[in-house]
Amino acid sequence: MNSKARLVELRALIHHHNHRYHVLDDPEIADAEYDALFDELTGLETEHPDWITQDSPSQRVGDTPLSEFTSVTHERPMLSLDKCTTTQELADWLLRCRNRLGEEPTIALFCEPKIDGVAVALVYVEGVLTLAATRGDGQTGEDITANVRTIGSVPLKLAAKNGRPAADVPPRMEVRGEIYMPLADFERFNEQARANDQKPLINPRNGAAGSLRQLDPKLTAQRPLTMYAYSVGWVEGDWQPLSQSEVLERLADWGFRVNSESGRFEELDDVQRYVDDLLARRDALGYAIDGTVIKVDSLDQQRRLGAVTRKPRWAVAYKYPAEEATTKLLDVEFQIGRTGAVTPVARLEPVFVGGVTVSNATLHNMDEVARLDLHIGDKVLVRRAGDVIPQVVSVISSRRKRNAEAISLPRSCPVCGSPIVRADDEAVARCSGGIKRCSAQRKESLKHFASRLALDIEGLGDKLIEQLVSVELVAEPADLFGLEQAALVGLERMGEKSAGKILRSIESSRTTTLPRFIYALGIREVGEATAQNLADHFGDLDALVAADAAALENVDDVGPVVAANIAAYFASTETLGVVQRLRKAGVSWPNVQPAARAAELPLAGQTWVLTGTLERLTRDEAKARLQRLGAKVAGTVSKKTHRVVAGPGAGSKLSKAQSLDVPVLDEAGLLALLAEHDVALD
Ligand code: IVH
Repeated sequence: MNSKARLVELRALIHHHNHRYHVLDDPEIADAEYDALFDELTGLETEHPDWITQDSPSQRVGDTPLSEFTSVTHERPMLSLDKCTTTQELADWLLRCRNRLGEEPTIALFCEPKIDGVAVALVYVEGVLTLAATRGDGQTGEDITANVRTIGSVPLKLAAKNGRPAADVPPRMEVRGEIYMPLADFERFNEQARANDQKPLINPRNGAAGSLRQLDPKLTAQRPLTMYAYSVGWVEGDWQPLSQSEVLERLADWGFRVNSESGRFEELDDVQRYVDDLLARRDALGYAIDGTVIKVDSLDQQRRLGAVTRKPRWAVAYKYPAEEATTKLLDVEFQIGRTGAVTPVARLEPVFVGGVTVSNATLHNMDEVARLDLHIGDKVLVRRAGDVIPQVVSVISSRRKRNAEAISLPRSCPVCGSPIVRADDEAVARCSGGIKRCSAQRKESLKHFASRLALDIEGLGDKLIEQLVSVELVAEPADLFGLEQAALVGLERMGEKSAGKILRSIESSRTTTLPRFIYALGIREVGEATAQNLADHFGDLDALVAADAAALENVDDVGPVVAANIAAYFASTETLGVVQRLRKAGVSWPNVQPAARAAELPLAGQTWVLTGTLERLTRDEAKARLQRLGAKVAGTVSKKTHRVVAGPGAGSKLSKAQSLDVPVLDEAGLLALLAEHDVALD
């Protein structure tokens, strides 16, 4: 193939994989393979600069910052929406539609999540993105083409599903949609901003708007933005869609991301159910919404209904409770976490926000308090969205009394009285009491120890732990394993039966896994993933305890700070004592194979598949033994499968293995292999 043909092919391939990744969320190739295609493309383009086209995937990030945005007049105004908040108002709206259409028509309604982001209009000429504009005042917006081009889910060129240019793309059309920042990315961005002492974003919408307002597209390219397309503003050519449903189907075919949460209904009851269900799932959607948009599905009916004063009659926004509200800061208290970290917490005049009444909000740390310039009595903006704890995002007015009290860090721990210290390079202040002196730290580390991802002690909730520490039945994790029925029964609201249940779940948590145990210790900045990496790397606890900082830094995702935290934890007689007493109390786990030695295992690098019934072993037992020998056990047979173990009743997996020439063993064959490696039956 000549280089020009290869270049054309690469562009199409990259567009295709880009679409799989950003739009369908279902990549077909690994990141490294994608990068290799991309490098090959940019290599060819460097050799032949005159072959570069505007729709080449290499041209997403322009390198010349703008000095200002130019205005763009929309060919058709971008409208806003009427609102409703009750079933009655929704019914009234539908009745008005019916009356205006002057018949007794079936009005099918199309429901979509109302994304809380930034509306954009994208002009495609012969299928190529040529202009992207903000909504502005609805008539005139700003040209943000360079920034929008950096967003992976916005097609630079419209394509049919097979990655080839679509023959049916209109000569000119304008696609409208909402650009937004997914909630997880928003939270991550803010965590980073706070860690770097930078101003966090107020909400995901501000995050998206601010990112699109950058004059340098390189900055926009670094922000996690994506888009859902929701309509066509105007279209030239033969394609004359009949309904909103058809518009969305077509947009998806051409490569846009469209929201799969939408629904078409003919009964008002069903619409109301959609609205209620979406609200119930609001926190789990992964993006901010402020309501449901309900549209008349037929575009002919839409045209006949028309618009009044910048609002269409054919659509309405069913609004959800706001996720932001203003209230008054009554006081600031300081909570002590399991590692002694002091967190300022705002006590607020109760306010209804995000569907619940909020009276406390986190202030993160003292840097955040200083940045907000908080004073007692201030009017503040509070945000509660998703399952994230409520936050104070800003002070609303500086109209404060002259003697208003500024907030300062206490000198001593409100719980144990030990001095509060703050290292110069840390945002976090800590109580210096440690678990020995500070009962707050004791309680919090015990809660962590018993939590779901740690030892997962069912029934041992926060309230009970607080009681156990307060009455001094428990001071550290090992004490849990010495608890007796009689002592528990003396506690508030504790009967014989529940005491027995709790003792049984403590007992069964005695056998755990190494990663859970490491995580349960609550070493600073050692989360669940790091604990797993440490367990994989060292294989047993003694090796981990003995490791110095340099050895720890060899573990995946462990940097100098985390390595120092771990080394300090095991170097302290106080914390090491906690570990030793737990082992003495009988906490144990099966040995795991350290990754360093895993490559030497007999079945390292092999993928096995089990199918049919086994008689002498259960599937789980067979799987565990194969894994002990270094094999991966997969659920489906492919070219990459090394061996299939088939028992009676094996079906399609066995035939697939035979068609791919994958060697097949029966149970006897498996047992012989296991015996050969000393991992047969226990
Ligand atoms: S339809 C005239 N669909 O809500 C029809 N708008 O007040 C208006 N929005 O700024 C657009 N999600 O950006 C429509 N699925 C959706 C939407 C949506 C969010 C925004 C839109 C506009 C505002 C309308």
